Amino acid sequence: MKTWIQALKIDEVPIMGSRVLYYKEEEIAIFKTKDGEIHAINNICPHKKGKLSEGLVHESMVTCPLHNWDIDLKNGEAKGENCNYSTIYETQLKDNYIYLKI
Ligand code: FES
Repeated sequence: MKTWIQALKIDEVPIMGSRVLYYKEEEIAIFKTKDGEIHAINNICPHKKGKLSEGLVHESMVTCPLHNWDIDLKNGEAKGENCNYSTIYETQLKDNYIYLKI
């Protein structure tokens, strides 16, 4: 069963940047877009396991640092040759904290 966990303070994630959270077996990249939207996604690129947290954020996408695939932060879709998906996590903002459903 999934549950909500308190992840980070909202201010801990830089605009157009990311922070990594380790939770049990999971490595999660939490991004903040230029517009201040928060997205959480598995930190492993579905192509060849690049670290998405090291990629460039633009609009609601991140470009993987290894082979430049764009990953949609809203649904996890990788825009590459084979359309694979990364796991995304539902987020919620409350009292200056980011919560993840995990
Ligand atoms: S590992 Fe991410 S694009 Fe190749």
